[in-house]
Amino acid sequence: MKAVVVHEPNRITVEDVQLEAPRAQEVKIRMAAAGVCHSDLSVINGTIPYPLPVVLGHEGAGVVEEVGAGVTHTRPGDHVVMSFVPNCGRCFHCVRGEAFLCRATPPGGMMLDGTSRLTLAGKPLAAFCSLGNMAQHVVCPAISVVPISKEIPLEVAALIGCGVTTGVGAALHTARVEPGSTVAVIGCGGVGIAIIQGARIAGAARIFAIDVSDSKLELARGFGATDTLRADGDTLKTLTAQTDGIGVDYAFEAIGKGSTVELALAATRRGGTAVAVGVGKLSDSIKLNALAFPLSAKKLCGCMFGSANPHRDFPMLLELYLRGQLDLKGMVSRTYTIDEAQQAFDDLERGVNTRGVITFG
Ligand SMILES: NC(=O)c1ccc[n+]([C@@H]2O[C@H](COP(=O)([O-])OP(=O)(O)OC[C@H]3O[C@@H](n4cnc5c(N)ncnc54)[C@H](O)[C@@H]3O)[C@@H](O)[C@H]2O)c1
Ligand SMILES: [Zn+2]
Ligand SMILES: [Zn+2]
Repeated sequence: MKAVVVHEPNRITVEDVQLEAPRAQEVKIRMAAAGVCHSDLSVINGTIPYPLPVVLGHEGAGVVEEVGAGVTHTRPGDHVVMSFVPNCGRCFHCVRGEAFLCRATPPGGMMLDGTSRLTLAGKPLAAFCSLGNMAQHVVCPAISVVPISKEIPLEVAALIGCGVTTGVGAALHTARVEPGSTVAVIGCGGVGIAIIQGARIAGAARIFAIDVSDSKLELARGFGATDTLRADGDTLKTLTAQTDGIGVDYAFEAIGKGSTVELALAATRRGGTAVAVGVGKLSDSIKLNALAFPLSAKKLCGCMFGSANPHRDFPMLLELYLRGQLDLKGMVSRTYTIDEAQQAFDDLERGVNTRGVITFG
């Protein structure tokens, strides 16, 4: 089967790889759609260190073809979304209501038993997030699989696997945005647009979208931003002036840079909440002033996967979509074939799409 593989930094190939049958507690899925998230690009360029070679893709939906022994919650024919974080329900974090930190999958893109179902020329391949969604088929842990209604187009449902759940969840669960509040979202790609939608659903009165790209700002208005700011050296000054010198109640960073997390914190009012959603380089850091930070009573939160529980949140988000309250269709700005994967990543880097999606015909 065809898969998008990274063998060495900064280069992808689309090639034939072998996939074994699912073992116990595993599921084989025929892929329908895989979203192109910046985190995949971060594996290609080394921002996110990952063992190579790896099959990319961690935001996807498809149809179950086969289940291994002991799988009871899904069966062949089911439409499913894969969660980039599994949900074992039993580990330290799952039992504390922190499914987004589930410890079940081993590091390095293997299955739960530490081995891979993917090989190339006899050598094992990792699967990003134990999924590897940018391939015609996937074998993944059953605890990463959430069945969904067949009413939902799979190319729309795919976005739930990472970006939308992360973004909407950042607003609803991580920050718990309150009705009537003022929100700033720095970085309006797929994740940032989902944060804007989450803030809108939460009833925020004012949502500032901030990006370096005018076209992203234009798009952001369509998804619920009430104000837009082209990011430049004066962003903080402008934003502060527009909030009567107070700052915003909640500021979200959805780029992945220490400097823009610092901007988010600086833009947050005293006592407010800044949320770091973007994933930056290991060598980058966020500076906090030892005097000003405690006295400001601000909160700075890291956000993993929108503080989501996939079995609770995937159906909830798809219900919001079906009721017209969450625009997922509008986020899919272009589809690509798997052979066009390079183009999809080039377009992501150039900021052309809200979300590009690889579809499998
Ligand atoms: N925490 C998590 O669980 C989680 C989950 C998914 C993605 N992410 C991360 O979220 C980030 C965003 O992902 P995405 O898929 O939306 O990426 P994207 O490339 O689609 O969007 C990034 C946006 O940031 C804008 N931007 C870049 N530099 C900027 C600057 N200096 N000021 C203002 N805007 C700027 C770009 O124009 C673009 O619109 C990535 O770092 C990704 O790895 C985190
Ligand atoms: Zn992602
Ligand atoms: Zn767990």
